[in-house]
Amino acid sequence: MINIALPKGRLGEKVYAMLASCGYGCEQYEKGSRKLVFRDGGGKVSYFWVKPADVPVYVTLGAADVGVAGKDVIDESGAEVYELSDLGMGKCCMCVAAKKDFKDDKSRPLRVATKFPKIAADYFLGVGRKIDIIKLNGSIELGPVLGISDVIVDIVETGTTLKENDLTIIERISDISCRLICGKAAYSFKRAEIDVLNEKLRGCIK
Ligand code: PRP
Repeated sequence: MINIALPKGRLGEKVYAMLASCGYGCEQYEKGSRKLVFRDGGGKVSYFWVKPADVPVYVTLGAADVGVAGKDVIDESGAEVYELSDLGMGKCCMCVAAKKDFKDDKSRPLRVATKFPKIAADYFLGVGRKIDIIKLNGSIELGPVLGISDVIVDIVETGTTLKENDLTIIERISDISCRLICGKAAYSFKRAEIDVLNEKLRGCIK
């Protein structure tokens, strides 16, 4: 039996549909149901619907053998997991953005508003710039607009939110997309099963 943690929501449902189309369907599965665990009758697979940010937790602790998570979630969690495949969905970019007239005052720490404090800290450590993190939970773009931060570290997908708030990208940190991840212990105990699932899923990626 392979235990799979899927992120609740549209992305998770899309991945479930892909898995179902390659032989990992569950007759118990009902779209929109509030049930959190589904098992197929044949004992081949079970699914858990979890909060997207929690997928690496279930995988790291071994409750799930594999899971589906955005690269942003994986990097922010710091979880030591294997990334088996890039599912090519949920593509966007982790960026540093600021007001168009932003000028970096190197005489003081840069104030960075973000939902991703670890990613921001790692990035600025890498470029040798001291920062103060302002942790926000959403509407990150308000940071520079209201003057509580100099820059933001956030996801940019279409760029509309930046544009409509008169902000611009000043640095691209990394490409983000949805990944199939696997726990290290699971990969040593169930490698053959997991490799088969991974190959089948790859076959569905357009
Ligand atoms: C995300 C992200 C940006 C926006 C980027 O926010 O934090 O604000 O999407 O998308 P765009 O480039 O297509 O405009 P989300 O919609 O998750 O809302 P949030 O402000 O609550 O984080």
